[in-house]
Amino acid sequence: MNDIDPVQLISRWLHITAAAAAVGGAIFMKFALHPASEHLPETERKQLREGVRSRWAKVVMGAITVLIATGLLNFFTIIGRYDLKGTKYHMFFGIKVLVAFGVFALASFLVGRSELGQKLRQKAGTWLTVLVSLALLVILLSNVLKSIDHKPKTTAAPAQSAGNSG
Ligand code: HEM
Repeated sequence: MNDIDPVQLISRWLHITAAAAAVGGAIFMKFALHPASEHLPETERKQLREGVRSRWAKVVMGAITVLIATGLLNFFTIIGRYDLKGTKYHMFFGIKVLVAFGVFALASFLVGRSELGQKLRQKAGTWLTVLVSLALLVILLSNVLKSIDHKPKTTAAPAQSAGNSG
């Protein structure tokens, strides 16, 4: 408690903030913006959705960059500090990263200008459900990682090995 690492603290704060912003935004779109805009006349609906898409794309790209950078920093700090051998940490970390990259790909297509993105947006309601479900799975997997016992690495005891020669 008394030795808080400021880099680790800021990195975790950025990671959680980026996750909250991106996942919260996706939930808002799925349950509020998308259904509410469905009943607008076609021209207004298209205008609104295009305005939201182009602005939200910047938040999505920023959040992905922050999540990857701070996620890697957190990971290397954790494996440097804690002895996770014999736990399922690496297995769950691998699954989390795979699902997270699926979320990043889908979110990028949904806000992008590619042909595939346009096709996916025609069924935006369905793809938003997939996106939100996968993002919630990533959060669950993050909680699993956090719940795995992190035993601090014991530094080799030099006194013991030096004194036991005979
Ligand atoms: C959709 C994307 C992601 C979401 C929603 C997400 C969410 C979270 C959350 C909520 C935590 C718990 C934070 C805490 O209590 O300190 C966490 C921890 C973590 N995340 Fe992510 N994350 C995402 C992507 C990533 C990626 C891409 C990486 C790696 C490249 C990563 C690596 C980590 C690590 C190492 C931890 C710490 C786990 C531990 O305490 O042992 N995350 N993440």
